[in-house]
Amino acid sequence: MKFLVINGPNLNMLGIREPGVYGTGTYEDLLDRIRRTAEAENVEVGFFQSNHEGALVDAIQQAYGVFDGIILNPGAYTHTSIAILDALKAVRLPAVEVHISDVKSREPFRQISYAGMACVKTFMGMGFDGYCEALRFLKRYLTERAQPSVGSDRDPRE
Ligand code: DQA
Repeated sequence: MKFLVINGPNLNMLGIREPGVYGTGTYEDLLDRIRRTAEAENVEVGFFQSNHEGALVDAIQQAYGVFDGIILNPGAYTHTSIAILDALKAVRLPAVEVHISDVKSREPFRQISYAGMACVKTFMGMGFDGYCEALRFLKRYLTERAQPSVGSDRDPRE
């Protein structure tokens, strides 16, 4: 199993950026955490970060046929980008949305998530742990999907 972890604008500034909201760990610390979880879960991970909306769209498109799933923190583009939503819908890879902060308890302009509309699950307000939870969730999700249990909605004649 191979997942792409995508981070949007300003997440490269972790550690410097609003430590009261996002903590003191750096972007490199975040990648280390995810790498260790991936190793323990026997999952391969790739990473991509950009401050540019189109580059994030490109990364999602290029994940098609290469990765089995996407873990995505679109940063502020969460609340504005229909292009990222459309890219997720285009590739139809299972995606999990992550937010380091508890977006639900923040400003009104953060209350909509376009990307979230194409994600199977959202983890928020858990700091860096949210990415690790997302990875474990995605692994479980794909494993269960590959082995539908009795009582699933698959045609029994298949
Ligand atoms: C964020 C929340 C967004 O509202 C914000 O614009 C970010 C980070 C988070 O991880 O909590 O850049 O996605």
